Amino acid sequence: MSSTLQSNLSNLTHQSDRLNIRDFIKLLTEQFPGKVTFSTSFSYEDQVIAHEILSNQLPVNIFTLDTGRLFAETYSVWNNTNEKYHANITAYYPDYRLLEEFVTDKGPNAFYESLENRKQCCYIRKVEPLKRALAGNAIWITGLRAEHSPDRQDLSIIEWDETNQIIKYNPILHWTTEQVKKYIDDNNVPYNILHDRGFVSIGCAPCTRAIRPGEDFRAGRWWWEDASKKECGLHIHK
Ligand code: ADX
Ligand code: SF4
Repeated sequence: MSSTLQSNLSNLTHQSDRLNIRDFIKLLTEQFPGKVTFSTSFSYEDQVIAHEILSNQLPVNIFTLDTGRLFAETYSVWNNTNEKYHANITAYYPDYRLLEEFVTDKGPNAFYESLENRKQCCYIRKVEPLKRALAGNAIWITGLRAEHSPDRQDLSIIEWDETNQIIKYNPILHWTTEQVKKYIDDNNVPYNILHDRGFVSIGCAPCTRAIRPGEDFRAGRWWWEDASKKECGLHIHK
C-alpha cells in the first residue's frame, strides 16, 4: 500500500471517528463526488444505512446484486424502500451468457452438490456483477457487522479492499443487534419480515435458513458447508 493511500485512510478514519454517519457520508460525497456507492442486500443492517442516505438525500448511488434467487420477502423490502423514499435502487444482474451456460451444464441447484459449484454460482451471480457495480467508484459503503462472524471482527470501519481496489466504509461494523433493531423501530424503516422468523443473515433463498436460539449468526448461510468456507467472495479480507 502506498504512503499516500495509507495517509488517506488514516485521515478518513479520524474523520469517521469524529462525525456521525450522515455527516461522514456527506463529507465523503464532497471529497469523492459521484464516486460513493452503497451495496444493499436489504438486510436489517443495510436498511439502517439506506435510511441515513435516502432520508438525508445524500448523493450516493445505491445498488443491489439481484442474483435471481432472492426471497420473495427481499423483493418486497426493495419495493417498499423505493416507494417510501421515492428512490430507484440500481439493479445489477449476472452476465446472462455465463449463467445460461452454468445452469444448462450443471442444473438449477448445483450449489448443493459441491463447494466448487457453489463458489462458481456465487461468482456468476454476485462477484462478477459486483465488479461492474464498483467500477469507477472510490468509496464502497457496506452493512458488514463484526457480530456476524469471527472473521469480520478483524475488519475496520475504514479499510482498503485490495481485491476491488476501493476504500470500504463499514459504518455500523460495531453496532449490536439491539442497536440495529432499535434504529429500525425508532425510524419506522421498512425491513425484511424474515428477520421476525429467525433469519439473521439473509442471502439467496436456496442457501439461507433461519437459525435456532444460540446458533452462530452465520449458521443459516450455506448450512451444509464447513464453517470456514462460508463466504461468497464479495468480502475478501486479507
Ligand atoms: S455475504 O458476503 O455473506 O453475501 P452478507 O449477506 O453478510 O454478505 O452482507 C454483508 C454486506 O454485503 C451487506 O451489508 C451488503 O453491503 C453486501 N451485500 C451482500 N449481499 C448483497 C447483494 N445481494 N447485493 C448488494 N450487496 C450485498
Ligand atoms: Fe448461488 Fe447460493 Fe451463492 Fe446465491 S448464495 S449465488 S444461489 S450459491
